[in-house]
Amino acid sequence: MSQRVKVKQILSDDKVQYDVTVKGWIRSFRNNQFIALNDGSTNNNLQIVIDPATDPAVQRRLTTGAAISVKGEVVASLGKGQRVEVKARELEILGDCDPEKYPLQLKNRPSLEYLREIAHLRFRTNTFGAVFRVRHALAFAVHRFFNERGFVYLHTPIVTASDAEGAGEMFRVTTLDLKNPPLTEQGDIDFSEDFFGRPTNLTVSGQLEGELGAMAFGDIYTFGPTFRAENSNTARHLAEFWMIEPEMAFYDLEDNMNLAEAFIKSVIAYVLEHNREDLEFLAQRLADEEKQKPQQERSDMGLLEKLEFVLNNEFVRITYTEAIDILKNSKPNKNKKFQYPIEDWGADLQSEHERYLVEKHFKKPVILTDYPKAIKAFYMKQNDDGKTVRAMDILFPGIGEIVGGSQREERYDKLVERMEELHLPVEELSWYLDTRRFGACPHAGFGLGFERLVQFVSGMGNIRDVIPFPRTPKNAAF
Ligand code: 4AD
Ligand code: MG
Repeated sequence: MSQRVKVKQILSDDKVQYDVTVKGWIRSFRNNQFIALNDGSTNNNLQIVIDPATDPAVQRRLTTGAAISVKGEVVASLGKGQRVEVKARELEILGDCDPEKYPLQLKNRPSLEYLREIAHLRFRTNTFGAVFRVRHALAFAVHRFFNERGFVYLHTPIVTASDAEGAGEMFRVTTLDLKNPPLTEQGDIDFSEDFFGRPTNLTVSGQLEGELGAMAFGDIYTFGPTFRAENSNTARHLAEFWMIEPEMAFYDLEDNMNLAEAFIKSVIAYVLEHNREDLEFLAQRLADEEKQKPQQERSDMGLLEKLEFVLNNEFVRITYTEAIDILKNSKPNKNKKFQYPIEDWGADLQSEHERYLVEKHFKKPVILTDYPKAIKAFYMKQNDDGKTVRAMDILFPGIGEIVGGSQREERYDKLVERMEELHLPVEELSWYLDTRRFGACPHAGFGLGFERLVQFVSGMGNIRDVIPFPRTPKNAAF
């Protein structure tokens, strides 16, 4: 009896003269003899050779997309393009695929936009095969990194009553009858009658609960879905995205930056080592795409070079104030090329500014620190200057902000004062404030947007192409 063996295994073993069972989907069938079989373990197809005298009725069913099972012998291949192939002894069609209706025919190369419309089938293309194997490997590398350092993986809630970022971009969770909601005497919706007895929403971040964990375990991380009801229709925003949020007791901002930089480099090194084949495919795809662009918009580095470059160079670390000086004096600012000109200290940085710093000025990943407190969240540690907070954003070429984090305000009075200034519900967040009442200590953390990382590593230009089923304004298909 021969067990099912994966195509990747057969191709990498490079052995011959043994029996296997292989199962997968047909990519092509030609000359009444050669099947290119793909089983998702690699983009490389396994060549199956069948007897050209096979019943023509069976041959007609060997169409692109059909699922088959084959038993046969692995032999050296005489043809070009592969060293081994399988000489079929038994062939079973598990599932037919009507060539008249199947949207993924080899001949017409579908666009990424079209594939988004058939996202339920796009995993079967080489591009998405490579993207999602790389995504998987990155997720595995994230867990490996933190596990090796003794961090506890903490599962923070998805339904919550708090707004961790204080930005009000939340999806309400309710079981109330929207046509006829219960009302209070004042005529407001009466959430005491709702499922949880209070207003609740999908989480925008696990950070606040993560901080509670850090105050007991020392080092924790979360890795889960987060939700933002921001109406941003860009190539870098999703309404549902995955975030990794480590939180560390006894860390200051510098420790936080060191960890974030080591973390990003570690996961990139992991895929460079383990997903070479997929990355090479994606690098070629990107190079082909770049050729369509005008010369001055093309990047000077290929995908693999770019990844190696990030690994082998230290990230630049500068303050927000220094960045504003650079931007104010920059050519695009003086020539009024920025859509949002930089005039004064205090301006929020737009992605055009972030990209100028990273892609034009430094040509390296940049960590910006010490932002004005007015443009950052309430929980960040206040500096003595009374104007700035111990924030850090990591900016990446082609991506912009990939990480946002900070040292946290551990001083109870300072934190409450800031929450009151921002009209945040101090009472409701008393559980959070308990971390500042009972054994408070300096601590820090950050959040990395997982899809932005996958975008950077895979070279995919649109964030909708690095998550299986993207959720964006006016779109929740599948
Ligand atoms: O900067 P953000 O909003 O920070 C937080 O949520 C903090 N609680 C993190 C922390 O300190 N624990 O988001 C963190 C990262 C961003 O840098 C970005 O990479 C990603 O999450 N992100 C998004 N990714 C895709 N779509 C969106 N709409 C995103 N919003 C943020
Ligand atoms: Mg941010």
